[in-house]
Formats: sequence, C-alpha cells, structure tokens
Amino acid sequence: MAYFGISLPRDAQTNFLMLVRLIHLVTGITWIGLLYFFNFVGFPLMKDLDPPTRVQVMPPLMLRALWWFRWAALGTAIFGILITGATQDYYKDFFSRANGASIFLGMIIALTMLYNVWMVIWPNQRIVIANAANVLAGGQADPAAAAAGRRAFLASRQNVMFSVPMLWFMVGTSHFYTAFSDPGAGSVWLFLIVALIIVGVLEANALGFIGGTAASPVKQPYESVASVIISGFVLWAILWILTEIIFG
Ligand code: HEM
Repeated sequence: MAYFGISLPRDAQTNFLMLVRLIHLVTGITWIGLLYFFNFVGFPLMKDLDPPTRVQVMPPLMLRALWWFRWAALGTAIFGILITGATQDYYKDFFSRANGASIFLGMIIALTMLYNVWMVIWPNQRIVIANAANVLAGGQADPAAAAAGRRAFLASRQNVMFSVPMLWFMVGTSHFYTAFSDPGAGSVWLFLIVALIIVGVLEANALGFIGGTAASPVKQPYESVASVIISGFVLWAILWILTEIIFG
C-alpha cells in the first residue's frame, strides 16, 4: 500500500505497535513534564510565596496537577509494558543482549519512579494538601504535614535524578545499545546487578532508609534544582561508563 508514493506499514501488529508507542510517548511526556514543573517551578515558587497565599494557591493547583501526574504515570507504564508484548525481539535472548539489558534497566528505573509517584509522593502530598485546605478554612495546622512534605519532596527529586538515565535507556534500547555485539548472559547480568545496586542505594537514600530524611550531606543532591539536574547527569555518566566497561 502506498500513500503519495510512500509505502505504509500494512500488518496489524505494526500499526498497533505504532499507536501503543505514540500513546507511551504522549503519556510519558505528560508525566515527566509535570515532574519537571513541580521540581523546577512549583517547589521553588511555594517556598517564595507568603503562607496565606500558599495555602490558598496550593490545594487547587496541586490537586489538578497531581491528577494528571499520577494517571499519566500509570498510563505510561501500561503502554510501555504493552510495547514489550508486541515486540518479537523481546522473547528471544533477552538477557544476553545489550539492548535487552538497556530496556530492562530502563523499565526497572521507570517502575521505581512509578512506585514513588503512587506510594510516596501522592499519599504524602494528600496530607500536605489536606492541611493547607484545613488551615485555609480556619482549622489547626497538622504537625505531620511538614514531614510528609519532605518525604514527597525527596521522592520527587529522586525521580528527577532517575529521569535522565531512564530516558537514556528508553531511547538507547533501539538507537545506541544495538551497537554492541551480543555480550552474552554473564555480562548482561553483571551490568544489571551493579546498576541495580546503584539504583537501589539511591532509592533507599531518597526514602530515608539511609540517613533519614533531614538535611545532611547525603541529601545534598536533592536540595536544589541545579544539584538534582547535575546528579541526574552524573548518574547517567556512571551507567554509561559501566556500559562501556562491560559491553564495550
Ligand atoms: C513506566 C514504565 C515504563 C515502561 C514499562 C516502558 C517501556 C518501554 C519499552 C518496552 C520501550 C521500547 C524500547 C525499544 O524496544 O526500543 C520504551 C521506549 C520508550 N519509552 Fe518507555 N517505558 C516506561 C516509562 C517511560 C517514561 C516515563 C518515558 C518518558 C517520556 C518513556 C519514554 C520512552 C521513549 C522516548 C522510548 C523510545 C521509543 C522508541 O525509540 O521507539 N518511557 N519504553
């Protein structure tokens, strides 16, 4: 079949996969776009606003934004997993190819980010929003709100840090990691184990299992917009060096 001389994909699977990929990308940018909005614009603005304005602006803004944020995150994961079901390549030699390692790690990082959205950021932000609405209505401030806000903040900043290598592995699976000739299962597992330990330690730090949640040297990467962006690229560089050492 041709359209203005350009041949179009014919089989249903190709068309289905095209649509699934498109929805994956649209939901993905909605999620990560809002994540960057919260981190680069929202948190710094909330800190600058005087408390009466903050409690007035915060509940309606955050409730709307968090609705799109958490459902876009879930949609991204569902459509991402649907891509794996429609890609024949994923059923053969998955754990002995460099691009198998790439998408597996990308998915684990993205699913950790999804966990942070639904299990950490959203429940803690609900406490913060409910407190702001209550104060606005003339009620007593909830003493647990500050700690909840801090937990949501740290998980959100960790997601910003994770987003850099996550996007790299999403895109790299078809574009960069195909350049390595098949390294074999031993190398793939070595790469995955080292990478997952790094990811696990960072997640434990963000959730406060390492060093609690109070400000300390290990929380420094999360405290400012500049430090979290730099940390994201440092994490990417470490994982890229690991790639070159093991697969290169
Ligand atoms: C939440 C769990 C996620 C899962 C399970 C998932 C899964 C996948 C899979 C299987 C692919 C195909 C890789 C390939 O064969 O080339 C892919 C590609 C991609 N994903 Fe995700 N993903 C997730 C999250 C995200 C997020 C949050 C974004 C952010 C925008 C994202 C952006 C992308 C991009 C840009 C591609 C490349 C598309 C291409 O080159 O064709 N993904 N994802």
